[in-house]
Amino acid sequence: MTKIKHFLDLKDIDATDLRLMIDSAREMKAAQKQGRPHAMLNNKKLAMIFEKSSTRTRVSFESGMFELGGHALNLSANDLQLGRGESIADTARVLSRMVDGIMMRANSHDSLTELAQYADIPIINGLTDQCHPCQLMADILTIEEHLGRSKDITVAWIGDGNNVAHSFITAAVKFDFTLNLACPAELSPSDDYMHWAASENGRITLTTNPEEAAQNADVVVTDTWVSMGDTDAEERMGLRTPYQVNETLMAHAQNNAIFMHCLPAHREEEVTTAVIDGPQSVIWDEAENRLHAQKAVMEWCMGGEV
Ligand code: CP
Ligand code: NVA
Repeated sequence: MTKIKHFLDLKDIDATDLRLMIDSAREMKAAQKQGRPHAMLNNKKLAMIFEKSSTRTRVSFESGMFELGGHALNLSANDLQLGRGESIADTARVLSRMVDGIMMRANSHDSLTELAQYADIPIINGLTDQCHPCQLMADILTIEEHLGRSKDITVAWIGDGNNVAHSFITAAVKFDFTLNLACPAELSPSDDYMHWAASENGRITLTTNPEEAAQNADVVVTDTWVSMGDTDAEERMGLRTPYQVNETLMAHAQNNAIFMHCLPAHREEEVTTAVIDGPQSVIWDEAENRLHAQKAVMEWCMGGEV
């Protein structure tokens, strides 16, 4: 039996496959812009389960499935029997009989791995408390479009060592770039990701000093201080001041550095308006690339070989 291709965490996916997905995303973007058909998932169905809010993930997967010739079903966890106590295992078994893949945005990463354990079809991570691998596929595509490469660049992550930061750590290993993280000690990335990266010889540094992390960076990236599900908003906001990405911090990076943010953003909190709406910001390309990258991920999971 062929192994099911889940997309749960970049850690678990071969670098070669990730490279193929990025190249495929670039090709599908060109096909879409030129109006060339690319119905690679003709008649396939994707169930999308959301335990948390979403704009980009929901719309990119639904539009992407449409452009690939398939259909996406938007399922809020609360509207499913899952919300009334039906088990994840039984939900996985039932959906496996009806659709060709499931994308889930889950409160807990354990729910996602449980879904994958009981499903006979590919499971895609649409964000968990632990990581956001789909976001990173769009981010790598965006970096390569703007800088011409992702290998051997330097990325500075400024702020909370959260789910997106974890996926940057895994991407740094898989795509072979240097990642300098500046996080308050209270909000460091998890040891599991840092130890994994070290065991893979990843070029990752962690400091509490944002200027040190941003020094000569090609990419400066941040995210919200309060992620969905965080219950300690006040403490988190109290830590944020020295970590705001502003023009002074950007001046430490390369002159042609780009600014990225997965969105949604909070202007004048994690980033100033001048930076996020300024000439170095690539956030709208980054958001659009969710569509192209997610198509490549779905094709890898649910189609033939990419
Ligand atoms: N970046 C991202 O995942 O956005 P949404 O929460 O809107 O899906
Ligand atoms: N870290 C944020 C990302 C949102 C796309 C969150 O988990 O809410």
